[in-house]
Amino acid sequence: MPFAEWEEDLARDIIGEHAAEQGAMLPILHALQEKFGCVPEAAIPLVAHALNLSRAEVHGVVTFYHDFRRAPAGRHVLKLCRAEACQSMGADSLAARAQSRLGIGWGETTKDGRLTLDAVFCLGLCANAPSAMLDGKLVGRLDPTRLDSMIAGAA
Ligand code: FES
Repeated sequence: MPFAEWEEDLARDIIGEHAAEQGAMLPILHALQEKFGCVPEAAIPLVAHALNLSRAEVHGVVTFYHDFRRAPAGRHVLKLCRAEACQSMGADSLAARAQSRLGIGWGETTKDGRLTLDAVFCLGLCANAPSAMLDGKLVGRLDPTRLDSMIAGAA
């Protein structure tokens, strides 16, 4: 589903739908991301105002949770596990390989909008470490060849 272009009124409507809920911050941020593909910077003061919080508090939540994006993701999302079991099986060198092939860091998207690279902390596939997820599909026993072909195949 394509994401909506930023529109302040639309954001205000989304915020208004959830503002009265208990613990409204997370539902609001999720709803904004669902609509716009990320939590746009311009939404932060609106959320802060609606919840009577400071911008810094809202900003802190957005940056604390890895799920929230500051810019929309690319057409494909590759998540590489960085937790312990995967690290012990060479996840760090796979991560370095992915970053250098793609020319991006964690949470970034290639310039052509093709692929976003995310770090995750355990995909529940520790027995098959190192693990990854491409567009929601789990991949275990990742190795450099497989990683390269996943990157090449995500067109
Ligand atoms: S530590 Fe990587 S899948 Fe669990």
